Amino acid sequence: MKSSTLQFLSRNRPFVIATLSMIMFRASYCKFTKPTIPAIAPYFGTKCRYEEVNPLLRDDILFVNKSLMAPPSPDCRAVHLVAVIRHGTRFPTAKNIKKMARLYDLVKAEATSADWWLEDIQRKWRMWYTEEMDGKLVKKGKNDLRHLAVRLAKSFPSLISKENLLGERMEFMTSSKHRCVDSIKAFQEGLHKYWDVKGVDFKHSVNDSLMRFFDQCKRFVEAVENNKTALKEVEIFKSSKEMDAVRRRMASRLQIPYSQITSDLVEAAFFLCSYEFAIKSENSAWCNLLDESDAEVLEYKNDLKQYWKRGYGHDINRKSSCSLFHDLFRRLDQASYDYRFGELAKAVTIQVGHAETLLPLLSLMGFFRDESPLTAENFSLQHGRKFRTSGIVPYAANLLFVLYECSDGFRLQFFLNEKPMSFPNINHPALLYEAVRNQYSYLLDGCDFKKECELPKVTFKKTEL
Ligand SMILES: *[C@@H]1O[C@H](CO)[C@@H](O)[C@H](O)[C@H]1NC(C)=O
Ligand SMILES: *[C@@H]1O[C@H](CO)[C@@H](O)[C@H](O)[C@H]1NC(C)=O
Ligand SMILES: *[C@@H]1O[C@H](CO)[C@@H](O)[C@H](O)[C@H]1NC(C)=O
Ligand SMILES: *[C@@H]1O[C@H](CO)[C@@H](O)[C@H](O)[C@H]1NC(C)=O
Repeated sequence: MKSSTLQFLSRNRPFVIATLSMIMFRASYCKFTKPTIPAIAPYFGTKCRYEEVNPLLRDDILFVNKSLMAPPSPDCRAVHLVAVIRHGTRFPTAKNIKKMARLYDLVKAEATSADWWLEDIQRKWRMWYTEEMDGKLVKKGKNDLRHLAVRLAKSFPSLISKENLLGERMEFMTSSKHRCVDSIKAFQEGLHKYWDVKGVDFKHSVNDSLMRFFDQCKRFVEAVENNKTALKEVEIFKSSKEMDAVRRRMASRLQIPYSQITSDLVEAAFFLCSYEFAIKSENSAWCNLLDESDAEVLEYKNDLKQYWKRGYGHDINRKSSCSLFHDLFRRLDQASYDYRFGELAKAVTIQVGHAETLLPLLSLMGFFRDESPLTAENFSLQHGRKFRTSGIVPYAANLLFVLYECSDGFRLQFFLNEKPMSFPNINHPALLYEAVRNQYSYLLDGCDFKKECELPKVTFKKTEL
């Protein structure tokens, strides 16, 4: 273990004890070692653990690859960082908990097979999820953000620093949802422990017009959110031959008539495996109801939903993020101005939101765009698609925009989940900031939230009559 890990852990004694006892419990219990990571874990989409996207973190959760996070060249100095972060691991929503409970009841009452895992489910497992858990941040989710905070502080020590924190040059903003508020507090807590800061109360602001823009975009709500046909590809895929085959395979594993295994119940099995793993780090018996080819189908179903509801499927999905896009560049512009002409008022902006916040912004900026749309018909043709949410928006997913001042001007680096990425259609790791602004000039000069999101006046009149 790295010495910095030990330092961090020694300030987190209860956490260390919990971890150690878990390891000891495992060691004595698991004589017949089964893999601790389910084979289907990389396909969980927005329910993926961050560790599946950055596997080195499985051994050392505070590991940072310094050469990946380094400045574009040695003469560059970091000026500002904007991080747009998804909340950490959370409980399932009440709606999905109901589906999980239905599957559990069915399997308990009707499934028959001689497999150990079925006995585990029927005899040992208990339905411990309750509807009031409804999407709240779990303990693992707090740790996701605490650890992310420390890794970012290690990656950008001149920006995420004790001095900048105490000097209030770090701004913290969040969506109003409890899981996001809890996430930003956990992020701050991670920094406090890392620097041993005590007795200081840290502030954050709640801003839903930036972090939950999708709720406030009337056109999006009418054309997509409340529009049953907007997601028709998802509905068609639910009764596709691929989904049918998944239902048949699961029915046969459980020895339950195929007619009783709906696509909702197949999804419930996927949820149970993913939540048991994300929340409790367990490769649960539920994971045996599905294999990797089943998981690929379920992953595609989720990607279809995100594509049509948050991504390229409908133009308004992306455009609803115009205000967040402008906010980002306003911060970068301000920082470059301040750097040149005065003193930097802000070094860091931390903004916590949802997968639904990150995906539209990434799509607006042209990331992960496939040549042809994702549809119900072309599951097999989209095997190598770019738009794969498992890798893009796991729990604690993060977009980092880092502005540098270099000898030849300002440069902008972009990181997704702590990995550097080039801006779309430009094969350069750290473009001149001016070039990035040029690339997006059509958005900087347009992309007006009010204009895009307002409903035509006639619609109001019609509904008034
Ligand atoms: C860190 O990143 C570099 C690429 O910049 C890579 O070559 C190296 O293998 C990575 N180190 C580890 C431990 O993964
Ligand atoms: C949210 O942020 C935007 C952009 O910075 C700002 O105009 C707006 O006043 C803020 N809203 C609240 C409620 O703070
Ligand atoms: C609902 O979605 C369909 C398919 O995208 C679209 O043709 C239709 O115009 C939408 N309805 C509204 C009210 O926007
Ligand atoms: C996927 O299907 C759509 C229509 O359903 C089609 O327009 C598109 O070309 C297909 N994509 C591929 C990669 O075949």
